[in-house]
Amino acid sequence: MREMFLCPVCGEMLTESEKLYRCAKNHSFDKARSGYVNLLPVKQKHAKLPGDNPEMVRARRDFLNQGYYQHLQETLCEAVKNRMPSGGVLLDAGCGEGYYTKKMADILPEDCTCIGIDISKTATDLASRADKKTKYAVGSVFHLPVGEKQVSVLVSVFAPYCHAEFLRVLKAGGFLIMAIPAEKHLWELKTAVYDKPYENQVRDYELENFVFQQKITTEKEIFLSRPEDIKNLFQMTPYAYRTSPHEKERLEKLETLSVRTAFEILIYQKEA
Ligand SMILES: C[S@@+](CC[C@H](N)C(=O)[O-])C[C@H]1O[C@@H](n2cnc3c(N)ncnc32)[C@H](O)[C@@H]1O
Ligand SMILES: [Zn+2]
Repeated sequence: MREMFLCPVCGEMLTESEKLYRCAKNHSFDKARSGYVNLLPVKQKHAKLPGDNPEMVRARRDFLNQGYYQHLQETLCEAVKNRMPSGGVLLDAGCGEGYYTKKMADILPEDCTCIGIDISKTATDLASRADKKTKYAVGSVFHLPVGEKQVSVLVSVFAPYCHAEFLRVLKAGGFLIMAIPAEKHLWELKTAVYDKPYENQVRDYELENFVFQQKITTEKEIFLSRPEDIKNLFQMTPYAYRTSPHEKERLEKLETLSVRTAFEILIYQKEA
C-alpha cells in the first residue's frame, strides 16, 4: 500500500493499518467508521466546525447528485486523465463531499492513488462513505498533510488556493487543475434575486512558478424544476450569506428556473 499522509504532530510519514494511521514516533490517528482520518491539529482549527457546515454540505450534495454539474465533472475527468502519469498521485484539495473526486478515482487506472482533503468533517465523512478508492483526510489546504513533491496532479474545484502548499506538494512537471466559475455563471439566478447583480470576476491567469497551459470552458443551461433545487443551488454560492431579506423573499418565490452554468478549467504545469 502506498503511504501518503504525514503526521500532523511531527511531520513523519503515517503508516495505515485497518483501523488507524501511525507514525514512527507512535502518534496515532483513528480512522472514522467511514474510513477517513482527521489530521487537522487543534491549532489549525479556527472554528468549532471549520469549512462548510452540515447544512451547506447537504445542500451541495443534494444538488450535485441531480447531475446538474455533470458536464463539469466530465470535462474535469478528461483533463485529469490526459495528464496523469502511470502510477501517479491525484490530490483533490478542498474536495467537499467528493462529487468530483469519486469520479476521477473511478476513471483513473488502478495503479494511481487518489487523495481527498477537506477541512469540513461532514463533507469528508460523506465523501469517504461513498468512495472506497480514495483516501480521505480532514485537513487544511494551508497545511496539507502530504509530503514534498508527492503529487502528480492537484485538483482544486471552487476551493481555497494556497500557492506555497500547492507548489510544495507537486512534483516538478506536475499539474495544477483549477475549476472556477466563469463570468456569467448563474447569471439568471442572480438577476432573479438581486437588485444589482454582478458578474463573477475572472482573475488574471498568471501564477508564479507555474506555466499556464490551457483554459477549457464548459457551459450548459440547466432547468431547475423543483424549488428545493433552486434553494440548494443558492445555498452553495458564496453570496448566500450576503442577501437582504427582500432578495431572500424573491428566492423563496421562485418555483422553476432556467439558468446558465459556466466554468473555466485552468491548467498549469509546475516548472521543472
Ligand atoms: C465551494 S466548496 C467546493 C467543494 C468541492 N470541491 C466541490 O466542488 O464540490 C469549498 C470547500 O472548501 C472547503 N474548505 C474551506 N476552507 C478550507 C481549508 N482551509 N482547507 C481545506 N478545505 C477547505 C470547504 O469545507 C468546502 O468543502
Ligand atoms: Zn508523529
